[in-house]
This record gives sequence, C-alpha cells and structure tokens, in this order.
Amino acid sequence: MSRIAYVNGRYLPFGQACVHVEDRGYQFADGVYEVIAVQGGRTVDEDLHLDRLGYSLAELSMSWPMSRGALKVVLRELLRRNRIAARGIVYLQVTRGVAPRNHAFPVAVQPSLVLTARPLPAIDESAVRRGVTVVTVPDIRWKRADIKSVSLLPNVLGKQAAVSAGAYEAWMVDEAGRITEGTASNAWIVTAGGELLTRQADHAILNGITRRMVWAIAAEHGIRPVERPFTVAEASAAAEAFLTSTTSLVRPVVRIDDATIADGRIGPLTEKLLRWYLGHMYGLPVSPTGDPMAPATT
Ligand code: PDD
Repeated sequence: MSRIAYVNGRYLPFGQACVHVEDRGYQFADGVYEVIAVQGGRTVDEDLHLDRLGYSLAELSMSWPMSRGALKVVLRELLRRNRIAARGIVYLQVTRGVAPRNHAFPVAVQPSLVLTARPLPAIDESAVRRGVTVVTVPDIRWKRADIKSVSLLPNVLGKQAAVSAGAYEAWMVDEAGRITEGTASNAWIVTAGGELLTRQADHAILNGITRRMVWAIAAEHGIRPVERPFTVAEASAAAEAFLTSTTSLVRPVVRIDDATIADGRIGPLTEKLLRWYLGHMYGLPVSPTGDPMAPATT
C-alpha cells in the first residue's frame, strides 16, 4: 500500500512529499517535532504530545501552523489514509517556514507542517523484555535539550557511536560525569537500595511523555521515583537500568559500556513498570491489584 504524507495543507504520495530548499528546518534546523505512538488505531497520549509541541513552539517564539483542533483532524485523516488501524507511529514536524536565508527570524512567515505515519508490527513483548545494551558518550548538545528541537546532530552522532559499538542506545554524559539521557530516550536506574532514579527534567533533558507516564504509573502503585542526576559509575553498579521513549517503550538496559547490569536480565521493578506501561498503551483497565489486565492475544 502506498504511503501518504501531509505537507502544508496537502495529502501527497511519499514520492511527491517535498519541502522547499529554503525551509528554515532544512537550512537551520529551525524547527520542532513530535513522535506519537498509535496502538489499536488510537494515538497514545496525544494531548501530552500536543502540549509539549506547544511548549517547544513557544520557547522558540514560533506559532502553531494551524489550530490544535485542526491538527488533531489532520492526524486522524493521515492515519485513515495510511490505513493504520492497529499499531503505528506518527512523525510531526513544524518549522519556522520558508524565507530567504538570513539567520534572524523572518517576519510574517507561515510555519511549515509535515506529518508522516507508518504502520508497525504488534509489540513483540518477549523481544522488549530481553533488554538492550547502551554505550556512554559525552553530551555535546546545546544547553536547551528540554525543547524538542530538530537540532539533532549531536544525538545522531551519539546514536551512531552506539550502533558502531553494537549497542542499541548511547547515554550522554555531562561535564560532571553524570548521565543526562539517551540520544532518543530517557535514562533510569534502580539503585542497590531500591531507589528508582531518573534525572530531574531541567534544561539538560527532554521531559519524555513516556517518562512522565511511567512516573505517574509508578506513583499510582505507591512507588515514588527520585529525581536526581546519577553518574556512569552509579548506573554501572545499579540493580536495574532501563530507558523510556515512545518508540522503545520501557526497555531494560542489560549492559552499559563494559558493565553488565546485575544478572544481565530484565529486573523485577523494570518488569512491573513495563507491564503497567503496556497496559496503558493497550488501553486496558487496571485490575483491583493495580495490574493492568493481561492483553488479549489475537
Ligand atoms: N525521541 N529524550 C530524547 C532526546 C528524545 O529524542 C526522546 C524521544 C525522549 C523520550 O521522549 P518520549 O517519551 O516523549 O518519546 C527523550 C523520539 C521518539 C524520536 O526522536 O524519535
């Protein structure tokens, strides 16, 4: 089936989906984006993603390309046209628009809006549970990682370092030797003392929607995560480690650089958080014990 993209007001076959050479996104990475999961044909946490889009736009003094309501209509139409009735992913990018090249903001320019969507196979839960390895790289990003900006070159270099080392993700490390986050995910550990740790959502990290949902789900189950930075040494000696993102879900980290985390298998708290998060994704009711009901096998 041919894929359809949305580009500035038009639904186009992929081969014809193009932006202008003087788009500010292309020339300056002057844009922001969101990645939204689709499960059972429904977007997951759409409002949280649109709230963060509004935050990123406002922080860069950019306007919405269309009203929030209209954007929701486009989202749904794109899913329909791409026949995504089960699992999929939506990519949404807004740039400051098309203008003659000049570093300063152009005036009276309409922001560009591009959306793509693609179907994904059903979540392979046993593959998720097997976990992934990460390497650590210096965090060379600019100092406003809280904005979901398309300035992703440092993230690209970090991810490539991971792939070249045979790892799934790279965890970026600040000047003080503390882990900030992954190149496209947030970082968590469980200490030997049982503390669930993730770095505080300041300007040094992107406040992941998955991070926030995992936080909320943990709190619902009486687990209070602690927000503070942790070092590579602390992470390497942790009882459990995992990463979170829209595309990676809750993913156990079984090795960091050369250090195997505990026994190299998904830890008990990570297993619970994954189960609860999958329940949230599948839109399942929560059982009286606090566990989401087991997903129906189809
Ligand atoms: N990335 N940190 C960074 C730097 C990210 O790029 C992402 C997501 C996250 C997790 O955010 P969320 O839980 O809202 O997906 C954290 C997306 C998936 C991407 O760039 O493809």
